[in-house]
Amino acid sequence: MDKLIIFDTTLRDGEQAPGATLNEREKIEIARQLVTLGVDVIEAGFPISSPGDFRAVNRIASTVKGVVICGLARAVTKDIDAAYKATKPARGGARIHVFLATSKIHMQYKLKKAEDEILRLATESVKYAKKYTRDVEFSPEDASRTEPEFLFRVLEAVIKAGATTVNIPDTVGYAYPAEYGALIRSIHERVPNIHRAVISVHCHNDLGLAVANSLEAVKSGARQVECTINGIGERAGNASMEEIVMAVKTRRDSFPHVTAAINTQEIYKTSRLVSKLTGFVVAPNKAIVGNNAFRHESGIHQDGVMKKRSTYEIIAPEDVGFTGTSLVLGKHSGRHAFEKRLAEMGITVSGDELVRAFEKFKELADKKKNVYEEDMVSLIEDEINKP
Ligand code: KIV
Ligand code: ZN
Repeated sequence: MDKLIIFDTTLRDGEQAPGATLNEREKIEIARQLVTLGVDVIEAGFPISSPGDFRAVNRIASTVKGVVICGLARAVTKDIDAAYKATKPARGGARIHVFLATSKIHMQYKLKKAEDEILRLATESVKYAKKYTRDVEFSPEDASRTEPEFLFRVLEAVIKAGATTVNIPDTVGYAYPAEYGALIRSIHERVPNIHRAVISVHCHNDLGLAVANSLEAVKSGARQVECTINGIGERAGNASMEEIVMAVKTRRDSFPHVTAAINTQEIYKTSRLVSKLTGFVVAPNKAIVGNNAFRHESGIHQDGVMKKRSTYEIIAPEDVGFTGTSLVLGKHSGRHAFEKRLAEMGITVSGDELVRAFEKFKELADKKKNVYEEDMVSLIEDEINKP
């Protein structure tokens, strides 16, 4: 079974989400938690982008152990120098990640450069980074919209120049799963030296397909996924780490060939830490880490879960470190759940008292969005103290 390398870019691409800025102390706290979670690579920042980013990457590299620390660089020497200096102290290994756009639209309008010039810059920058570290990753930015023949040429050239990981970004979240999977397979078939590098994927979520695209790529031969906690990132965000990891673990039948070494019980805690420090609230219905991800309100579902959890739960909440209550009382809830919740609160009622309390509860739940423990206690007290 192959290892699926989890490359976390919460502190680089994730932090590029408008409004998600983190200070140095916060970045170090998140980096430490990412190590506890078990990620393989932390992309700690873009050292040339600001003195603060340089310092944060450098502090993470000096203090956070047991993981590869990566710094991003454009295909220019001053960026690569900065990425090298910032990541140099990393004891678990330092990686330089060089990127350069290869799609027609980026080459013509953004870079104003022709294919041959791009090919030369890509190759030279990888060779330059290679003087500093063995571990060099190259990203042809906007790869999913790049002419495939040109993409294959660029990949072959950068691997020849020493790139050990080649990342295939879906920079603008334009790809859809079948197409992106086919692109990864064609890279395997058409790039003669591809066996010398790890294929990585980096998907954005503009069409809500970042996780689906990443998973399809893993099925098609990618062995590194770039992702962020809670899926934060530019615009609609990046592929969400917790969703990818739990999909691979939950659907072993579809992913028998890979394993991700993530301590999944740390997922919920990591999600909440990133949410607290970035100020980005996790939507209640967010897969895996939303407040409602393991909660059941309707009577039919609650009854099923009380009889056998797997009737309505495909993941055990404790496997991702979720410890809250799973039975939420509302207007759709049934009497069994009501009784069970009372028992959890240490209140035993039965017979007519229970029937009447449940009727009152239903009346209240029709009027109120949330029925809290205090409401239940007062319902029962009213019933018991009835003249
Ligand atoms: O989305 C993208 O293309 C990137 C690259 C820098 C890898 O973030
Ligand atoms: Zn990105």
